[in-house]
Amino acid sequence: MQGYRAALLRFDAGDVLQRVDDALVIVDEGRILEADAFAAVAARHPDVAWVDWRPWVLAPGFVDTHVHFPQLDVIGSPADGLLPWLENYTFPHEARFADPAYAAAMAEVFLDELLRNGVTTAMVYCSSHRASAEAFFAASLRRGLRMVAGKCLMDSNSPDPVRDETATSLVESQALIERWHGRGRLGYALTPRFAASCSEAQMRGAAELADAYPGTWVQTHVAENHDEIAWVARLFPQARSYLDVYDRLGLLRERSMYAHCIYLDHEDRARLAASGASAAVCPTSNLFLGSGLFDFGAAAQAGFQWGLACDVGGGTSFSPFRTMLAAYEVARLGALTLAPQTLWYRHTLGAARAMGLGSQVGNVAPGYDADFIALDDRATPLLARRSGAAASLAEWLFSLIVLGDDRVVVQRVAGGVPLAGF
Ligand code: GUN
Ligand code: ZN
Repeated sequence: MQGYRAALLRFDAGDVLQRVDDALVIVDEGRILEADAFAAVAARHPDVAWVDWRPWVLAPGFVDTHVHFPQLDVIGSPADGLLPWLENYTFPHEARFADPAYAAAMAEVFLDELLRNGVTTAMVYCSSHRASAEAFFAASLRRGLRMVAGKCLMDSNSPDPVRDETATSLVESQALIERWHGRGRLGYALTPRFAASCSEAQMRGAAELADAYPGTWVQTHVAENHDEIAWVARLFPQARSYLDVYDRLGLLRERSMYAHCIYLDHEDRARLAASGASAAVCPTSNLFLGSGLFDFGAAAQAGFQWGLACDVGGGTSFSPFRTMLAAYEVARLGALTLAPQTLWYRHTLGAARAMGLGSQVGNVAPGYDADFIALDDRATPLLARRSGAAASLAEWLFSLIVLGDDRVVVQRVAGGVPLAGF
């Protein structure tokens, strides 16, 4: 058993975000045993040694619901929208991940960046090459992380170096499930890239694998960009909407994550909610690629689950602070004011729930995986001034969201193990 003494940010039983000024978190065999006021916990566990991390603040590791492992070096590639961006930068870059040695090296860089920014769980796209998924899972296992990932499926309308073949792609997906799903804290997501790059047979095959292996996930993109939507409508004229393409093929289901969800209509949103599927909301990507503005008000009305995501390399930063700030700004453009507690929830416990992992990660509470970070609210001179002047929890959180970045994240613990080297 190991204790950590510091301030603590956690969700109470009513999902209210609380700050405990002096807390003790006790970790036992990778899980949180206790997380509460120091005096009470220390009295119950007088023999447990603790490290003193005051004046830092322990907080749940961030959960990112949508990010592309092979796009780290695509960040900041300007284009006239999604489709030219994919063609000119993304596909050529992803082609490099056919090389196992390159993929293995990049998996370490990618995980370093997630962890540097305080993200301890993510839902991850690998490239279409089996080697990229092997590399990502192997690196995540070595670090003891809870990660969900999958090999991209893309048998149509894609250039040779990244296009896969229907039957082989499904055999490879099944082999990856058998090898990695449930190993350590890893999970497999069937990953049809988007309807424009997948045949009906490939998407149907993905749904059949998700049926055959309960507990696996599904992830894809939907309703992100006008040209993309028009293309999908031409490819699938029988579908009522873009989301309906997936629904008809059995891919709209619990444990499925739909990235973007910008241009949904009322019926789509109702279907998303009824199916138990979730949305990954990617504001920095939607702004950078000029895709559009997610409708936070309509999401609340429909009541579907959603979590925040960086969507690197369309997104511009791995930092959850940057993503939360962009979400705030996009909501304001729709005349909605998201509370900082709401933003934080949507990148921790709310994101974990959207993934179906709300009992495992996203909070620092008894029974949860010991995946947490320590935050330094004095990491920069301006942040120290602003956070020091905060008169409420909301003001304090907002100072971090607006002024914070990876410099704020000063410690990471994953599966109860403190990670060194940052
Ligand atoms: N749609 C299909 N592939 C992608 C991708 O890699 N990034 C984004 N943002 N949208 C996509
Ligand atoms: Zn994406």
